[in-house]
Amino acid sequence: MDEGVKQTWMDEKSSPAVTSTLTAQPFVVHRKCVHKRTFPISYLFMTIIASLWICSKAIAYFLRSGSPTALPSLTSTDLAVGAVKWFECDADVPDGVECGTINVPLDYFNASKGISSLALARLNATKERRGTVFLNPGGPGGSGIGLLTERGDLLALMIGPHYDLVGFDPRGIGKTVPKTQCFPNAIDRQIFQANTVIEQGFTVTSNYSDPIMRDKLIEQHRQFLALYETQAKLCAENMGEELKYMGTANVVRDIDFMATVFDGKDANINFLGGSYGTILGAYLVNMFPSRVGRVVIDGVANPVLWSNEETYFWPRDFLSSTEDTFQWFLRACSEAGPKLCPLARKIGESTLDIQSRLEVFMDELYENPLPVPNARRPGYLTSGGFRSILLVVLERPATWGIRSKYLADAMAGDATELYNMLLPDYDLTAPDGDLARLAVSCLDAPRPKTQAEFPTPEMMTDAALAAIRDGPERFTGPWNHTLNNKILIVSNTADPVTPIASGKLVHKLLADSSALLVQNSPGHCSLAVGSLCTMKAFRKYYDSGELPPEGTICETDEPLFPDPDNDMHLFGDKTKEDAALLRAAMGIRDVLHGISGRRI
Ligand SMILES: *[C@@H]1O[C@H](CO)[C@@H](O)[C@H](O)[C@H]1NC(C)=O
Ligand SMILES: *[C@@H]1O[C@H](CO)[C@@H](O)[C@H](O)[C@H]1NC(C)=O
Ligand SMILES: *[C@@H]1O[C@H](CO)[C@@H](O)[C@H](O)[C@H]1NC(C)=O
Ligand SMILES: *[C@@H]1O[C@H](CO)[C@@H](O)[C@H](O)[C@H]1NC(C)=O
Repeated sequence: MDEGVKQTWMDEKSSPAVTSTLTAQPFVVHRKCVHKRTFPISYLFMTIIASLWICSKAIAYFLRSGSPTALPSLTSTDLAVGAVKWFECDADVPDGVECGTINVPLDYFNASKGISSLALARLNATKERRGTVFLNPGGPGGSGIGLLTERGDLLALMIGPHYDLVGFDPRGIGKTVPKTQCFPNAIDRQIFQANTVIEQGFTVTSNYSDPIMRDKLIEQHRQFLALYETQAKLCAENMGEELKYMGTANVVRDIDFMATVFDGKDANINFLGGSYGTILGAYLVNMFPSRVGRVVIDGVANPVLWSNEETYFWPRDFLSSTEDTFQWFLRACSEAGPKLCPLARKIGESTLDIQSRLEVFMDELYENPLPVPNARRPGYLTSGGFRSILLVVLERPATWGIRSKYLADAMAGDATELYNMLLPDYDLTAPDGDLARLAVSCLDAPRPKTQAEFPTPEMMTDAALAAIRDGPERFTGPWNHTLNNKILIVSNTADPVTPIASGKLVHKLLADSSALLVQNSPGHCSLAVGSLCTMKAFRKYYDSGELPPEGTICETDEPLFPDPDNDMHLFGDKTKEDAALLRAAMGIRDVLHGISGRRI
């Protein structure tokens, strides 16, 4: 099924953190990033830079948010720290998966702050039980419950029979109480964001020396900041003190706490995380190195930057493989030809020609946004919207067939399907996922130290500054601990948002405490393109602790642009077990890229 752009392991439209000054900054960053590159990739950059100005304002609101909100519908006995409840999940959940809650301390350093009640899902081990593997699908803002309740059976194939699998909704997210609640309801939030730069992305042309474009860009950033400041204020007004405790260090303490409750005081902690889940994983193994059991991080983001650097350094690093992915996409499209990739005019067409048509179209959109009267909500496609979607397409090679058609349709004048991808879900029960992510990322990022670091200092009172400095725990490394057990790090050669450079960095920092497996494919996280080799490595590691040898590169089994008329021989030469494992990879991926998890 077709998904919206907003559901991804690490949403490229939001990687917020603190920054210093607003004015002209995007331009500087941008020029730094793109020199020596052809311009499409810098287009992509601009969509990301979008989110970098948020935290400086948001964090002050978050950290001075009010007194704790009352936990609804909980009696005093329900409030005991460590209390666990299991019950039946809603309908449609596969057999064996249970849902539950666990009470954790809201503040691990002050018991009188009360509790947070984390929502859980569990699938029991089926053979000799060795403990629990905790799951995080990314975001921040992703629901670990969604993943397990939708495809727990496939996850069990990947991880094996010896572990209970536990998905949890991290603080502020999904069914966990208290949750991020900024707007009174989802409709209000959608109306607030509709047709703004948040929804449309940033619009730029290919001519960076055009001073008019620069002015327009600054204007868009002003709008962006104002919108986010409004949202952050709403969050602070409508939520209590809990908002302060959504940072990654707290989530790691939650995992540590749960591991103790479920598996015992000295038990190892096992974990599987993708995308932002790799940030969580890196925090986990470095905050609790002596508890590390079997930990896999896949689609690795850079934790050193995440926790220590001003965000305008982020795009360069996070997007250092985007160009490679884009070129891979163009090559695969050219090889597939117009029948399977309508962006190409003939099989083997020069990728430069395909690329230049895309560029020309984006420039045309800059001048004249394309009306889209027949979308789910009528609107217009801007060059910003087009680029936002293109980046999501690059993350998900399994969708390249259908998406290249949407892109080509848009270029031929009908952007209905493409624009639908940009629109928010009509699921009105969806939580304020993007705002949850905002809170997590902002709380992890460096705090502004002086008044001068705020973009508009007059907004920030001395009281707010004091609150920021005295705010709850952050973790900023070191990232090079010696771990109790070795962990498995997985990176794709061309991941458009979590580049291989980050995987190599985390591996280098953890040295002998880790192994790096490289999957030779485009896309975000290894599951983006099914690889039996990678799946076997996961399974072997969880089963026996055995890691792939240094320098292992896994090829993939799933074709890019598969031909539906020439049915996939994908499973033909595989044993039954191998076929099941490969199907599991593709099935989990389809859920992650599709309808589940509500990862906005
Ligand atoms: C899972 O295991 C626990 C014990 O660890 C047990 O209490 C529970 O009933 C099991 N759940 C299912 C669905 O079998
Ligand atoms: C712990 O929390 C309570 C309730 O919010 C507060 O009154 C107290 O000052 C806090 N203690 C410390 C040491 O921060
Ligand atoms: C870019 O903009 C500058 C300033 O307006 C102009 O002089 C230049 O010709 C433009 N370049 C292209 C390739 O359009
Ligand atoms: C770990 O990193 C810190 C800096 O973050 C450095 O001072 C220390 O020497 C490193 N330790 C090892 C064993 O490399």
